[in-house]
Amino acid sequence: MTKEENSLEHIAIIMDGNGRWATKRGLPRSMGHKKGAEVVKEIVRAAGEVGVKFLTLYAFSTENWQRSKDEVDTLMGLLRQYLKSDLQELQENNVRIKFIGESEMLDADIVSAMRKLEIDTAQNDALTLCIALSYGSRQEIVNAVKKTAALVKKGDISVNDIDIKMFSDMLYTKSIPDPDLLIRTSGEQRISNYLLWQLAYTELYFTKTLWPDFNKDELVAIIKDYKTRERRYGKV
Ligand code: IPE
Ligand code: IPE
Ligand code: MG
Repeated sequence: MTKEENSLEHIAIIMDGNGRWATKRGLPRSMGHKKGAEVVKEIVRAAGEVGVKFLTLYAFSTENWQRSKDEVDTLMGLLRQYLKSDLQELQENNVRIKFIGESEMLDADIVSAMRKLEIDTAQNDALTLCIALSYGSRQEIVNAVKKTAALVKKGDISVNDIDIKMFSDMLYTKSIPDPDLLIRTSGEQRISNYLLWQLAYTELYFTKTLWPDFNKDELVAIIKDYKTRERRYGKV
């Protein structure tokens, strides 16, 4: 009997290695981010083509605010450009966009462009592109605990109502299924405060490829590897 292939609904990616890509070429780190932003577009298209329903991209972590002002400004500039330029392509490809993270730390014009893009694409249903921006998983979990505690205090729920499903719905990722596959580029083998709750049974794939060199062919090869894995969820 042949083994059944794993289904694949949601891919999450830690897009890492932009800086090293640029440094290797004697370029400023900003050039790595610029090339990285082009790769984002290619991979969003590819995700639609391979038929996954959810793609979650780690674009900027809460810890990334500690980088130099120059680098943060570059990244926010690229983000502004993306927010302005991408609506047409998202609509053509039937992509719904959603942002997760601590939006209070972002400039007001960026937040309003994000909200507008979410509203303008809300009816699209081929692919949900979830962008983790100013995102930290521990902060997300602490916020969820606070929300839950407030409901208990108000008397809306009792302590015994708190379960895995209810708590998951308190996270930014409410109504998004857990990732089936996590890919991290650049050779680092760590999670860096990404989706700690949601990755409980996700298959992990680490590639040495730097994000600006990542492409559809490699994505397809990684998916092929994922399909051969045995997901046991603690059973035998
Ligand atoms: C990923 O590339 C982009 C962000 C974290 C915003 P890096 O900027 O971390 O690149 P490296 O890891 O320094 O090469
Ligand atoms: C993780 O990459 C965050 C993003 C890709 C947005 P980092 O480069 O910030 O992670 P560390 O510092 O290597 O763990
Ligand atoms: Mg990095």
